[in-house]
Amino acid sequence: MYSRILGTGGYLPEQVRTNADLERMVETSDEWIIERTGIKERRIASEQETAAYMGTEAAKKALESARLQPADLDAVICATTSSQYAFPSCACEIAGALGLAGVPAFDVAAACSGFSYAYAIAHAMIMSGQAQKILVVGADRISHACNPQDRTTIILFGDGAGAAIVGASDEQGTLAVHLSSDAKRAPLLTLPHPVRGRPSSESDYLYMKGNEVFKQAVVILAGLVNQTLEKAGMSDADLDFLVPHQANLRIITATARKLHLDMSRVIVTLDKQGNTSSASVPLALDEGIRSGRIQRGHVLLLESFGGGFTWGSALIRY
Ligand code: ACO
Repeated sequence: MYSRILGTGGYLPEQVRTNADLERMVETSDEWIIERTGIKERRIASEQETAAYMGTEAAKKALESARLQPADLDAVICATTSSQYAFPSCACEIAGALGLAGVPAFDVAAACSGFSYAYAIAHAMIMSGQAQKILVVGADRISHACNPQDRTTIILFGDGAGAAIVGASDEQGTLAVHLSSDAKRAPLLTLPHPVRGRPSSESDYLYMKGNEVFKQAVVILAGLVNQTLEKAGMSDADLDFLVPHQANLRIITATARKLHLDMSRVIVTLDKQGNTSSASVPLALDEGIRSGRIQRGHVLLLESFGGGFTWGSALIRY
């Protein structure tokens, strides 16, 4: 018995925030943002577009693409760090909105690496026979956790949700997964929970020492992609597509170079979506599949890096 992706879906809020909009909010420029990040616009969730709402919409599309009904699912896992409630979990809210009861549902918090973690857990649940069809969602609205006056973070983040149905199969879809963390540099990237009873303050917002995080991300991702390929006894020549976390085009380009991959074989969505945290990898995967670039049988390397620090990957035959 193996695990395999049966379908994918995505949801993006309607409201677009362009670089020109940001020029009116903070001291920045379209040129600076494009040159340093590759981002041109991002989507911003309304009050109604909670992580659970966006996750549910992405899940419906994933179910449709897998030709399944909610009742076919036997677990729901949601990667998020920006859900409306600590409990009920975002996964419970999504399960409820889909009319599902009697199945395990829980959240995974690993910042931008959340989807890699959730996917690896789904894979393990299937391999151990605990579940047959699992809804794996990445949903975040981190734009709302950024200080609107902080030009170093507000330019980066967008909101959205991506989903995949991971199912048991006699074809090997998941070839290798790899997860890791290291708290040594945790203070470089933090998002505190607001303290109840205390008015919100500067220190409640997301903090990131961008250039330090950037250097770490490039080095860690270079090691991660090689370790993942080695685990499966494969090399970069076996890869059809890289589906990276969409934090910064320069980080993505460095990882592609490490893998000797032409950028035509890398799925890039950050120009239109910015960094959607745990939604970024499943949204990129869904975009690659729906655009027809990713086909059944292609070998894909999904990777992500985020606060914690955490990082993770999945090598997949789609
Ligand atoms: N517009 C104009 N100038 C700016 C802006 C802006 N929006 N932001 C910063 N600057 C200035 C800085 O003040 C600095 O000025 P100085 O030289 O006078 O001090 C200069 O630009 C250079 O700043 P750096 O921070 O060194 O710029 P860098 O090239 O590193 O780009 C960025 C910043 C885009 C944040 C980059 O470092 C990055 O992408 N980091 C990694 C992000 C990441 O991968 N995060 C992990 C996932 S997120 C998660 O887990 C939630």
